[in-house]
Amino acid sequence: MDKFLIEGPCKLKGKVLISGSKNAALPILAATLLFDKSVTIKNLPRVRDIDTMLSLLKSLGSKITFSKDKKTAKIMNKKNMKTVASYSLVKTMRGSILVLGPLVSKFQKSITSLPGGCLIGARPVNYHLSALKKLGMKYDIKKGYIHAKSDGKLRATTITFSKISVGATENTIIAACLANGKTVLKNCAVEPEIKDLTNFLNTAGANIKWKGRTCEIVGVKSLNEIEYSIMADRIEAGTFCVAATLSRGELEVKNLNPKIINTELNLLKKVGAKIKTSENKILIKGPDKIKPIKNIKTKEYPSFPTDLQAQFMVLLCKANGKSSITESIFENRFMHVAELQRLGAKIVIKNNKAIIEGKTDFNGAELMSSDLRASVALVLAAIVANGKSIINRIYHLDRGYENIENKLKKIGVKIKRIK
Ligand code: UD1
Repeated sequence: MDKFLIEGPCKLKGKVLISGSKNAALPILAATLLFDKSVTIKNLPRVRDIDTMLSLLKSLGSKITFSKDKKTAKIMNKKNMKTVASYSLVKTMRGSILVLGPLVSKFQKSITSLPGGCLIGARPVNYHLSALKKLGMKYDIKKGYIHAKSDGKLRATTITFSKISVGATENTIIAACLANGKTVLKNCAVEPEIKDLTNFLNTAGANIKWKGRTCEIVGVKSLNEIEYSIMADRIEAGTFCVAATLSRGELEVKNLNPKIINTELNLLKKVGAKIKTSENKILIKGPDKIKPIKNIKTKEYPSFPTDLQAQFMVLLCKANGKSSITESIFENRFMHVAELQRLGAKIVIKNNKAIIEGKTDFNGAELMSSDLRASVALVLAAIVANGKSIINRIYHLDRGYENIENKLKKIGVKIKRIK
């Protein structure tokens, strides 16, 4: 299994080009199952979760051809697509559940594996299932698989999500695109990745309108041939902005509309970073002294994202006072804390709140990655730690960060992949 060897402390300087968003690409790729005509998706990030989704589409019968750099995929579906999403593919990535809505909507049937457990929390799919049921999907769960079907096309209705869920909102929007009539979804997640999905679908001829957290979808007969470029990855951009602040460095973070990480940039300003933004670029300079922040709370967009919680925790370990972060989305998302403590962090967890002491001198150590965002937090800590750190199980990072070691090397990090 690959490891990273990082020798700190490093001060970051230079330019970073932000890749396409994994979390936008996954539902958009799942939605290609609705098409009879070819779909070309550009700016795909070359990360393992995208390979998994592409393998899943291939296993269902999609024919996929790639550009030389593999960032553009042309997808053409067969007349007779398969409708079974196997456990072997779904278990490695929970996002695979996003094929359920399109399969039932387009082919009136599907056998999709339940995704199973995950380190950061229970992560059930009950909201996906209950919303699709309201659209007319019937299902049974047998031997770990959702056996789903519908009598004819799905039927539009009004659905109010009892809790805001990114995945359930996406699955239901995709399913409702070809349903008969007007579906109204209330209490939707409104993450930028979901807006990218509806923008993609509308560009292909779907009829989707947003009013705050309400999404109205008027079903259409079919979708048109389309070329579409995936939005930039706001979590990757946020991670590099934290890295600049933490290392007291200076970075130019390019290819992303800064407005979509406004909440995060305001927090970084609060800790002392100097930030200038233009249409497609962020200039960020870390302060000499990092100020603490009390009561950061992860919440649905446009609030602070859970996917940047671990990275901000590393930053606040270096603040000159006490900070706190409350995790309100996933119950177990503090896996990185024990590893950060091995580097010297002083963090106490009380229920879903982390109290971060600050003024930490990280000292290099051997560490273990647990999930995608926890792993990148360990990389950040190792960058500013004294001496060598080894980070094991970096396959978690390969799931979601494109070319991370080369991007880091270019801005001054002493990092090596050990095979
Ligand atoms: C997506 C993102 C993930 C991010 C998360 C929250 C992708 C591929 N993943 O995950 O990176 O951390 O949003 O911003 O886009 N829940 C249920 N039942 C359900 C669905 C969700 O109880 O049917 C719970 C979850 O366990 C969690 C909360 O609702 O506690 C929010 O989850 P959700 O927004 O659905 O996250 P994902 O779509 O899985």
